[in-house]
Amino acid sequence: MHRKIHLIYFSPTATTRKTLEAITRGTNGTVQSETDLTCRSPEPLPVFGKDDLVLVGMPVYAGRLPQLAVQRFLPITGNDAAVVPVVVYGNRHYDDALIELYDCCRKQGFRPVAAGTFLGEHSFSTPQLPLSKGRPDAADLEKAEAFGRQIGTAELKTVPGHRPYKAGKTLTGSATSVDPERCTACGKCIEICPTQGMSINNSVAEADPDNCIWCMACLRFCPADARSLTLEPIRATAQKLNDHFSERREPEIFLGQ
Ligand SMILES: Cc1cc2nc3c(=O)[nH]c(=O)nc-3n(C[C@H](O)[C@H](O)[C@H](O)COP(=O)(O)O)c2cc1C
Repeated sequence: MHRKIHLIYFSPTATTRKTLEAITRGTNGTVQSETDLTCRSPEPLPVFGKDDLVLVGMPVYAGRLPQLAVQRFLPITGNDAAVVPVVVYGNRHYDDALIELYDCCRKQGFRPVAAGTFLGEHSFSTPQLPLSKGRPDAADLEKAEAFGRQIGTAELKTVPGHRPYKAGKTLTGSATSVDPERCTACGKCIEICPTQGMSINNSVAEADPDNCIWCMACLRFCPADARSLTLEPIRATAQKLNDHFSERREPEIFLGQ
């Protein structure tokens, strides 16, 4: 079946976006709209009809959805369009993030027909301490495409997870620091920061500690490789993930019946 596809995603380090694109290839549909919630609220709001298929992707943050992503998603209404909630996580677990996204979609008037959990390189991954490095890899993308081929029209009644959802974590402090010798003040991090929390001071890009969601976009995409992950709680988490969660996990898919 040829379908009209719409993408909605929040994806600071691009693994969620890549996964949705692979699922889209599998659907053999035509992309009608793409709503990137990473850096801004949707404007104008996309409008859907009941014959559309909407893929909604968000990363898992501490077993939940990033609340900034949820806030930006909530003005969008489904108008009974079919939806596929997808969460992407860094090989620990997705906990209650998938059910949270499924519930958000329902609440906004979408009709879930499938759902999936996929793997991405962990945002806290560094060359010194790689975490689910290189994912989604070729095998993940192939699974995402195969999933796209299987998406039907029957309603998906349930997905794994718990209600009430696990408590979210409060993230404080800026995750990265800058090497002033390397920073060229090019402005790339300012452009891609989801909270608009970066600014140039004395020709160096600084992060606002009160406005950082630890997404790591500024570090991952710095063309001068000028940023490093210095916040101690993140370094400790990255070490724990490396010690206890390095066994490869695989995507899971859920289809309406
Ligand atoms: C603040 C924060 C919390 C995270 N929490 C989890 C988690 O609970 N479980 C997990 O497996 N991965 C976790 N991750 C990793 C991301 O889910 C993963 O890297 C994802 O691929 C990022 O998506 P993006 O590339 O679209 O930004 C976390 C990442 C960040 C930044």
